[in-house]
Amino acid sequence: MEYKIGLIGCGTVGQGFLEILNKKSEYLMDKIDFAAKVVGISDKLKGSLLIPEGINLAKLLQILNQGKKISEYLKGKKNAAEGMDPLEMIEKCEADIIAELTYTDIKTAEPATSYLKKAFRTGKHVVTSNKGPAALYYKELKKLAQRNNLLFKFEGTVMSGTPVFSLFENGLAGNEIKEIRGILNGTTNFILTKMEEEKMDYKKALKLAQKLGYAEADPKADVEGYDALVKIVILSNVFLDANIKPADVKREGISSISKEDVKEALAEGTRYKLIASVKKEKRQVKALVSPQKLPLSDPLAGIMGANNALTFDLDLLGKMTIQGPGAGKIETGYSILSDMLAIHHHLSKQI
Ligand code: HSE
Repeated sequence: MEYKIGLIGCGTVGQGFLEILNKKSEYLMDKIDFAAKVVGISDKLKGSLLIPEGINLAKLLQILNQGKKISEYLKGKKNAAEGMDPLEMIEKCEADIIAELTYTDIKTAEPATSYLKKAFRTGKHVVTSNKGPAALYYKELKKLAQRNNLLFKFEGTVMSGTPVFSLFENGLAGNEIKEIRGILNGTTNFILTKMEEEKMDYKKALKLAQKLGYAEADPKADVEGYDALVKIVILSNVFLDANIKPADVKREGISSISKEDVKEALAEGTRYKLIASVKKEKRQVKALVSPQKLPLSDPLAGIMGANNALTFDLDLLGKMTIQGPGAGKIETGYSILSDMLAIHHHLSKQI
């Protein structure tokens, strides 16, 4: 089956997704009967492009890798989408699926939430790695999608392409979750690792995380724990049927932890990790983000670099830990593909 895709935002994640599509189109067609035709792109900084017959991804990626604007693609020819903003693009691009990949705004979840609503109201499925809408408006957006017989997928919002939501839809279905504890921010885990293993300064490690594409546009969101906080809010609302907002979660980041603290903790047989957790206690959901000294025997203590991990306490299986990449261009780009494949799987069953 071939799907028409509209891309809103073409930054690190968008380009990672396009690279995967470009590289793996034959494999995806042969093995999974999945083909994607990117028909429209709108990016606030890089410009917009609308080509109903499909964009040549190799050519577009070359332009993007040279740091040029998307409109270069049609150099010399008429670009009907010149200056088209995301809302207009969503309406006009006739896509089956909108991939919403703009930057997360934790406070307002905008403009992403408006893009998602526009997509659902114009009959398009949505996949997104943007944490704002899923953290602030999950239930409302899910209802809107359902009312329109559409799917709302957001695998990349937590642990990038490492499966979390699809894991529960499939392999772990039927389990109830008693508690979730995890390392959900790649940047801070990367910084703590560099401070320990290479005795690197906090600032230098943060710069490196930014260079590698792990950090948020405003890295304060990472180091002060806001990013881990929105992720635990998403997990609470999706898995524990809670209705919490970011303001309901106590938060502390890692900016006050020094190389010396890291060294001291290790000498005590512990390791600092930024832990996000949520627990159901007498029908109340309690979520928290804080740096904690974990004994080295805790599976979460062994998670290094930009990796993330989650320990679920399940009623049927007991404690189960998953670990995998939590950030990065291809890793998060993959989450977008995996959501599209889930939509493909769902739609193929209906035929
Ligand atoms: N800034 C985030 C992190 C990106 O470091 O984990 C993935 O959400």
